[in-house]
Amino acid sequence: MIDLQAPIAVFDSGMGGISVLRELVRCMPQENFLFFGDSLHAPYGVRPLDEVRALTMQAAEHFLKCGVKAIVIACNTATSAAITDLRQRFPELPVIGLEPALKPAVLACPNGRVLVMATPLTLREHKFAALLEHYQSQAEILSLPAPRLVEFVEQDGLHSPALTAYLSALLAPFRENPVDGVVLGCTHFPFAQEQIAQALGYPVKFFDGGAGAARETRRLLLRAGTLIERAEPGQVVFTNSEPTPERLALCQRLFHL
Ligand code: DGL
Repeated sequence: MIDLQAPIAVFDSGMGGISVLRELVRCMPQENFLFFGDSLHAPYGVRPLDEVRALTMQAAEHFLKCGVKAIVIACNTATSAAITDLRQRFPELPVIGLEPALKPAVLACPNGRVLVMATPLTLREHKFAALLEHYQSQAEILSLPAPRLVEFVEQDGLHSPALTAYLSALLAPFRENPVDGVVLGCTHFPFAQEQIAQALGYPVKFFDGGAGAARETRRLLLRAGTLIERAEPGQVVFTNSEPTPERLALCQRLFHL
């Protein structure tokens, strides 16, 4: 018998998943959430596939011991590496993943240029290859690995001159040759949306998978009969594999941005 009050687990390699958590809370404020960020091992996006799969599986086993009622893998990289294995391992539990929001981007920019920013692992895995195959006739899709951007979020460096310099160099080709839309295909990146817009220097549409994942989570809970109907707000608990006071304070700050 599933306890309705049991939390929804939200997992990321670090702090990025907080951008998805915000959408989950917006969509289901009455639910309880248990966030776990594996900042000790971040970034995942430059690690070998097997390692990311093992770390993600370990986090899911931990959540199961905590008695959660669903698991949201709020990380495109961990989803690419482990979602199939997770669903096989926990068939009784709703397991929701993240993928680059290519569909809404292509719909909003028909025959336009769409830039997908993500981690190297996400961009080379099957999940993204399948998405690309599906949508490449509808727009020009360009992919751009941006692994260091993850570290700027992890290290509280969103307002540093180093980030401005990094983005300016990374996005220079797209300043000269503009794009119509940018897919933020890593859950860390929505926190740097303003900085990315500034580095591009022209108006552009942004897309990320957070709100879609939140709607899908709600739909699966409703179907499982485990969605809380009452109106009072639930609780959000932050945990991290590097639980320093600074990191936990950064979790709160990012959550309230
Ligand atoms: N937040 C993760 C994602 O959505 C990746 C960050 C990392 O490389 O650890 O892809």
